[in-house]
Amino acid sequence: MTHQIAMMSIELFLAVPMGLEDVVVRKLSSSLCQVATEIHYSLGSGYVIVVLPAIGTLAEEGKDVVFKTLSDLVDHPPLCIFSAHVSLGSIHVPRVIFKDPAELLALAKQKFRLNNHPSMQEAQPSRESSSPLATTTSVVQVDEKETSLHWEQALAVLKLVSPPSFTDRMDESLSTENSNDKESDPVRFRASFDRGDIQHKGVRSQDIAAALGSLAGDRFPRWKVNLTEFDVEVIGRWIQDVEETDRVYFKEVSASNTRKRARTDDDGEVETARLGTTGQSEVQPSQQMESGSKRMQVGITLPLALSACPYRFRPKDGRTSLRMEIAYTLVGLADPKPGDIVVDTCSGVGTIPIIGAAHYPQCLFLGSEILPPNVERANENSREMMGRVDLARIEGCRPQPQPQQPSPSQNSRSHSRPSLILGDAKAVCLRSSSVDLVISDLPWGQRESSHLSNCKLYPKLVKEIIRMLRAGGRAVLVTGERKLLQRQLDAPFAKPYLRVVEKREITIGFKVVAFELVRL
Ligand SMILES: C[S@@+](CC[C@H](N)C(=O)[O-])C[C@H]1O[C@@H](n2cnc3c(N)ncnc32)[C@H](O)[C@@H]1O
Ligand SMILES: *[C@@H]1O[C@H](CO)[C@@H](O)[C@H](O)[C@H]1NC(C)=O
Repeated sequence: MTHQIAMMSIELFLAVPMGLEDVVVRKLSSSLCQVATEIHYSLGSGYVIVVLPAIGTLAEEGKDVVFKTLSDLVDHPPLCIFSAHVSLGSIHVPRVIFKDPAELLALAKQKFRLNNHPSMQEAQPSRESSSPLATTTSVVQVDEKETSLHWEQALAVLKLVSPPSFTDRMDESLSTENSNDKESDPVRFRASFDRGDIQHKGVRSQDIAAALGSLAGDRFPRWKVNLTEFDVEVIGRWIQDVEETDRVYFKEVSASNTRKRARTDDDGEVETARLGTTGQSEVQPSQQMESGSKRMQVGITLPLALSACPYRFRPKDGRTSLRMEIAYTLVGLADPKPGDIVVDTCSGVGTIPIIGAAHYPQCLFLGSEILPPNVERANENSREMMGRVDLARIEGCRPQPQPQQPSPSQNSRSHSRPSLILGDAKAVCLRSSSVDLVISDLPWGQRESSHLSNCKLYPKLVKEIIRMLRAGGRAVLVTGERKLLQRQLDAPFAKPYLRVVEKREITIGFKVVAFELVRL
């Protein structure tokens, strides 16, 4: 079956923290970037697209590298991604149709099911035809031409990274023999749809999911729907106009020198490179959403071994605790340097300092939090998770190759636990100018506290940050109280001391803003 993925490039779409796509790309510096022919994203889309080369065009060695890359991604998924999917294809959805639920579903069914009218294919060149080999290849079976979804290719990739037991059942479910005898263990599947933050009045995601599900069901009559336990997940998502028309393109082609430089450059330069390729620095997402059409992309979810990562899950959640993936990527945005003292003065259950200590063992991480129960949870999380980290020395979620098993004492020395203490962000127990970096997810109206209490908190909190930070020190502050924080930064007590380097909208359940600041 592998020959069917021979001549087409493999497109993966990775779900990542929204608004931090560029950081994710920097973080994917491991094997994925070594192999990808193309990586692109649109800031705020929540997805990074990774294109792997057409396996058939590669020498044996190259093939092995691609296979290994795929299984690495599945066995050790980097913490900056939530999920990964192999693209089956995408269709263009005109605006009028996007707004009409019935038409939308009809369109999806029609285009995704039987798309074998040559005229239609010419009129609507599908996205994957950008791979010049895709349309000319002769290895694609006749079957495959009847649908605009590249099932064979995606299933072949899925099989590559799945255990043999799954592969056998999959082959059985695909075999054309009429084995009515015993449907021993049918392949179970479900379909889902990620609307992201696209407003889509009148069209429910579950209806689109159901439509996709019926497509899969028609295509693979032996598969059984099972929403809770499934082997195959068919997933759809919207691709914004911005991604199509103003695609921010991050070139990470195989020239390893270029890649290394991009990785070590400071944020500013990477940013320039990125904007340079688009020729347009500011995209107004809201305007883009109003205008015109969308694409619908469909893919198959890869079975990432999420639980293999020692800190994707924490024992104690708080009411406002950040997802680990977001915290990890946020720390990546702040980019601590060796030797840095990094402080979170609103540390909740300790997410940011724990993730930081695990990934930046050459830095010292401190968290303080005003609610005693949170501090307790934070320390429990730290004990548990840092313990796991010590067992799996890591970069992202990848265990380092271990020539010999280091003794526990060696391990515990290499990863010091963060200090997670009780404290008030309005009066921090640290000397002035003693901190290099503050990374904080501040309290803000929605889920805790109130706007009123924040109005009292923020001025003092900002003053403390100014006091703690050394000259040249930096801060990344996340808040839903954008205006309130901006007001403090504009105030006479702060303006001469803190410069705003960047503000970016990110999504942590709600749309919030991450402020990147430098202490002058
Ligand atoms: C948005 S939450 C941070 C959650 C944290 N990132 C986590 O993952 O658990 C803000 C935290 O600030 C704490 N907080 C509120 N006022 C504070 C203050 N004056 N000093 C320190 N922490 C405070 C809240 O109790 C809450 O845990
Ligand atoms: C889904 O699969 C599980 C495990 O095989 C089974 O117990 C359950 O009944 C199935 N659900 C449906 C709706 O078929």
